[in-house]
Amino acid sequence: MATYKLLLLPGDGIGPEVMSEVEKVANFLGEAGVAQFETEKGLVGGCAYDAHGQAISESDMALAQAADAVIFGAVGGPKWDAVPYDVRPEAGLLRLRKDLALFANLRPAICYPALADASSLKREIVENLDIMIVRELTGGVYFGEPKEIIDLGNGQKRGIDTQVYDTYEIERIGRVAFELARKRNNKVTSSEKRNVMKSGVLWNEVITALHKREYADVELEHQLADALGMQLVRWPKQFDVIVTDNLFGDMLSDVAAMLTGSLGMLPSASLGETNPKTGKRKALYEPVHGSAPDIAGKGIANPIAMIGSLAMCLRYSFGLGEAADKVEKAIADVLASGLRTADIKGDANSTVSTVQMGEAILGELKKAY
Ligand code: NAD
Ligand code: IPM
Ligand code: MN
Repeated sequence: MATYKLLLLPGDGIGPEVMSEVEKVANFLGEAGVAQFETEKGLVGGCAYDAHGQAISESDMALAQAADAVIFGAVGGPKWDAVPYDVRPEAGLLRLRKDLALFANLRPAICYPALADASSLKREIVENLDIMIVRELTGGVYFGEPKEIIDLGNGQKRGIDTQVYDTYEIERIGRVAFELARKRNNKVTSSEKRNVMKSGVLWNEVITALHKREYADVELEHQLADALGMQLVRWPKQFDVIVTDNLFGDMLSDVAAMLTGSLGMLPSASLGETNPKTGKRKALYEPVHGSAPDIAGKGIANPIAMIGSLAMCLRYSFGLGEAADKVEKAIADVLASGLRTADIKGDANSTVSTVQMGEAILGELKKAY
């Protein structure tokens, strides 16, 4: 049986609450003989800052580099509002993404039929929705230099962020999108703002050329990012794979979350380049949501985005597609049975806790083994 090294980074707020449920699922899969998982735990975010003044320590970075996959909860919260910018909780996540070169963030938005009424949109707009947002994750305005606030000396300051993309960054994320589309409904929608941004002009040119050169069999369309935001809530089923930059991808995936019922439903995979020699790639699996300070500590967070992220890990890092399908089916079956956490309550009469939802999914999963 294959052995995989998992690094668990629960983080802050609801991060540890939802991570506990994932641990139960991973332990069970180990016991069931699906694979052997060697798990270690580390600190990231505000809890890491409290422990050693950094958003992630060098030793935990080394564990992340050595792991077959990192499973990440969530970071941040008002407790750390005043800490220096370089060591704020979110810096830990950004460092992991950058240092592990996790340029491709896959954010699937799937609306389970049982949850169509939990969305703020009408049932027919979202029911059975299945789209994939491919977000560029190591470039753009998140990492471009200069990034600073300068004193202009006249009582004014200037805040600067730099949006920057090179050809190779656009090409490699484009390839990820086209390859995924070929295995899905064969359509890619590329999104930027070429009407106001030079990086958008280049993005559009590079994706168009790549399509012509290598992926002419895939349908390609371009939508300006503001219009795409509108189309996502007007008629989301027109999309299959959406490919976009780091910042637009961040915003559009939170919007897409509400098509599925809740931010607590959206998993994600952050992937690096595949090493041609080993066939392996660095990877981190993270729910799209944050630390949810408004509900942290109450035991009511939805663990499905986190458990779904483990399913993505099984599929994308370990080639355990069958086990991933079983985890996802367990989630679908529990939702079909009517169990709801508070965020996806819809018109349900009662709701369950994080632990109850996690254990119900585990119970369903056990039936498949
Ligand atoms: P958030 O995603 O934490 O919460 C937004 C809303 O969604 C809240 O009302 C929250 O209760 C709800 N929500 C989120 N996840 C949920 C879940 N699993 N179950 C039920 N409800 C859920 O976004 P925010 O409030 O803007 O940010 C809070 C902190 O989290 C900030 O410090 C932010 O930087 C950080 N953040 C971290 C990550 C990450 O670690 N990957 C992602 C986004 C935001
Ligand atoms: C996300 C988050 C992060 C981002 C923050 C916490 C750095 O919002 O993963 O969607 O902006 O990428
Ligand atoms: Mn976000």
